[in-house]
Amino acid sequence: MTNACEQLAVLAPKFKLTREKLLRARHLPGHVYSSPELYAMEKERIFMTHWLSVARVEEVPNVGDYLTFEVMNEPIIISRPNPDEISVCMNMCLHRGVAVASGCGHAKDFSCPYHAWTFSVDGKLIAAPGMKESEVDMKNARLKKLQVKIWRGWVFVNFAEDPIPFEEYMGVMEDKLWWFQSDQCKVARKAIIDVKCNWKFLVENLIDIYHVGVIHRSTFGGFVKGEKLRFNLEANGAWHTRYEARPHSKGGEQVFPTLPWATEESPGIACKAGIYPNINLSMRADSLRMWHIWPISPGETRVVCYMLFPEGASSIPNYDAEMEKYVAFVKQIIAEDAMMVESLQNASGSKFFEPGPMAPLEEALHHMENHYVDLMTA
Ligand code: FES
Ligand SMILES: [Fe+2]
Repeated sequence: MTNACEQLAVLAPKFKLTREKLLRARHLPGHVYSSPELYAMEKERIFMTHWLSVARVEEVPNVGDYLTFEVMNEPIIISRPNPDEISVCMNMCLHRGVAVASGCGHAKDFSCPYHAWTFSVDGKLIAAPGMKESEVDMKNARLKKLQVKIWRGWVFVNFAEDPIPFEEYMGVMEDKLWWFQSDQCKVARKAIIDVKCNWKFLVENLIDIYHVGVIHRSTFGGFVKGEKLRFNLEANGAWHTRYEARPHSKGGEQVFPTLPWATEESPGIACKAGIYPNINLSMRADSLRMWHIWPISPGETRVVCYMLFPEGASSIPNYDAEMEKYVAFVKQIIAEDAMMVESLQNASGSKFFEPGPMAPLEEALHHMENHYVDLMTA
């Protein structure tokens, strides 16, 4: 098996075709969706250097609250050591590396289940039983702390030692995302779906407007005029768009109250955006959604969909029943996509697979696929 650099060299002629202008370009070669070596390189070049949204602030509301999470097998603890601080540490004991916390909950401290070294909620080593005679100085030792940024109710982390400043990473998106006021919302539901495909197929699928009228015709496809839709393509692989559609419900009718910041807008307002590598944001007149796409292995991905509503939403009659219908609608959309991306994954490993030409409606995919080539070949 060749290493990642050798594989990229072999793929260079195919990348050249992806780099052509949209109407001449071809999609990425299947190999980038199936190679374990390129997957490992993506971890280093993309997921270990970009700002990643790993939790909601509301998931750790009180001092001592914590939850655990993994990004490409890197285990972390997200906790609230102080009323106004959220901290993210590696969930790896300083003795042998066992995870000191599991699941989520409330803790005074974390005691490692293996030999009972104890850490504060902030990750400082506070007790190491049976180590008195050790000559290794562990006085100020602590679980490795990651850089954290709170943005509109989300906890972003960066695994890099010296990451680009968050503000620079967000860039112009800060202003373009006026419609995504998720700090004024709460998570009503969180759907977690595992899909058997590479993470990039899902990221691309969520910006692929070309398929909407086809596979989603029985859910929301009929309400989106894809041919009129134009994407704004920004630096660092980001993009955003605004178009006319209908709220997410079977008949397209609006069920929940209009978002307070959208009352002056068209009732058919629909906005979507992407922040590279794995965040997709979406808005209708009455609701917000944030999608996180987490790589599990080259051919497995976890999709997390946060369904967000402002406080007033729960005041509608039959709120619980309406929310169940809404969740079922969103899950149905994901199920429709899942069948397609799993089929794409199958093709990506075939020796007969040749990347096809991009459609004019795939300009955001073109932007994203080119950004991927930039990152991997820099
Ligand atoms: S691995 Fe944690 S105390 Fe030994
Ligand atoms: Fe879709």
